[in-house]
Order: sequence, then structure tokens, then C-alpha cells
Amino acid sequence: MTAGTALLVGGSSELGLAVLEELLGPPPRRVVLAGRPSGELWRNAEQLRDIGYYVTTAQYDACLRADEIEGMLTHACTDHPLSLAVVAIGTMSAESFAEGIVVNGLSVALLLRALVQRGPEQVVLLSSAAAVRPRQSIAAYSLGKQLADSAAVLLARQAAESGVRILIVRAGFVTTRMTAGMAKPPLATTPDRVARAVARAVHARRRVVWVPRGMELAVRILNLVPRRLLPAGWR
Ligand SMILES: NC(=O)c1ccc[n+]([C@@H]2O[C@H](COP(=O)([O-])OP(=O)(O)OC[C@H]3O[C@@H](n4cnc5c(N)ncnc54)[C@H](OP(=O)(O)O)[C@@H]3O)[C@@H](O)[C@H]2O)c1
Repeated sequence: MTAGTALLVGGSSELGLAVLEELLGPPPRRVVLAGRPSGELWRNAEQLRDIGYYVTTAQYDACLRADEIEGMLTHACTDHPLSLAVVAIGTMSAESFAEGIVVNGLSVALLLRALVQRGPEQVVLLSSAAAVRPRQSIAAYSLGKQLADSAAVLLARQAAESGVRILIVRAGFVTTRMTAGMAKPPLATTPDRVARAVARAVHARRRVVWVPRGMELAVRILNLVPRRLLPAGWR
């Protein structure tokens, strides 16, 4: 991978940062962390600066319109073209059902389109097993992830024609801020393990990776079982 600008949208995300670090290669390199201003965003920026990357931040909020997303990307990639983008936007604690679908789904679909038009070598979407196995208890999150995942699937073919690869990462439960305080289910994994699996998948030029690997089979089996027979949290 050439060393153009690397962008993490969801710059405060622990999982996003782990994936980005695994893909960055050796410093120096220009890195942009896009997100809402927060202590986590500044900490992630400092962590990368300490390693030797040249890091700036950019404002990204899921309520941005398409033209505002363009503006953010133009600003972020002023001097160096975009070569890598990791999309780590997601929330399970949206204030309303509609907000959950917009943040996890619609905003990510718009962002993916804008990213592909910039012609980076690689886009990584942190999707979820919930995109293939929606659950009642996280309905807005699941529906949003389904929308974002489907947008990536549809964009991937068109993107490939212009040399852009999109990797969709369908992770199960990962121990991060998002899942803090939740009971760990079977097949729970860590940001480091997800990051290593993503790096292997990027290297192998894959379009989809499930993490852990057994999650795909587990989801396919669960989808065959009538929901009423499953424990409430799995429906
Ligand atoms: N943890 C898991 O079990 C798991 C499993 C599968 C997939 N994923 C996906 O992995 C990605 C990273 O998740 P994570 O576990 O690292 O959790 P996280 O730390 O909560 O990261 C979520 C990111 O989304 C951003 N975000 C949320 N709402 C936003 C909004 N309205 N506007 C702009 N940014 C917003 C957050 O920014 P703020 O700091 O500003 O809120 C944060 O950067 C997400 O896409 C998540 O769905 C996570």
C-alpha cells in the first residue's frame, strides 16, 4: 500500500484505532482522525503521534449532509490523496429509533459513497454480525448496520472498476467502550484480534471477513432456528 493519507472516521473508536494501527505501516505517514471532539479522540491522536505519525483531526458528525461530507474529505486530504479509509461509526445508545438508523446506516452509506469517489486503495467498513443476524434488542443498530453493509456490498463492484477495494468486517461481540458492562457472549473477541484478522483480509484482498471466523457459521445456524425457540437476547 502506498503511503497517502490514512483516514479513520470514528476517530475516537478503540476498535477503529486498533484496525488503523495494524494497517498503517511504519511512520512517517499522514493520518486524519475524523469525529466529534472528545477526550478519546485527542487520546487516539496523541497515541499515533507518539509512534511518529503526522496526525490531524477533522470534524465529522453523522448528521452531516452529503456536501458537508465532501467538504470534510476535501479538507482532510488537501495535500496528500486518500489511500486508506477505516469507517468505525456506530452506536447502540441512540436517543431514538430513527437516530439509530441514521447514525449506523444512512450516514455511513453516504460516507462510503463519498470515500469511494476519492479513489483510495482500500476502504474498511466496520460492519457487524448484526447486519446479517438482526436482533430485536438492538433493532435500530441492526437495521442501520444492514443498510451500511448492503451499501458497501453494492458499492464494492463499482469501486473495484476504479481500483478501490472495500473490505466489510462483520465482527461479533468485541470488548470495547460500546460493549462495556454487557455480559460477554460465546465467541466474544478483542480489538487486537479483530485488527489482525482485518490486516490478513486486506492482504488477501478479500471483500468480507467475519471475526472470529466461527461467527459466520454461528449466524447461519442461528438464522435457521425459529426465533421463538431462542433465549430472548438472541431473538
Ligand atoms: N464493540 C463491538 O462489539 C462491535 C462489534 C461489531 C462491530 N462494531 C463496530 O465497530 C465500530 C467501532 O465500535 P467500537 O466498539 O470501537 O465503539 P465506539 O468506541 O463507541 O466507537 C463508535 C464510534 O462511532 C462514533 N459515533 C457514534 N455516534 C456518532 C455520531 N452521531 N456522529 C459521529 N460519530 C458517532 C463514536 O464517536 P463519539 O466518541 O463521538 O461518540 C465512535 O468514534 C462501530 O461501527 C461498531 O458498530 C463493534
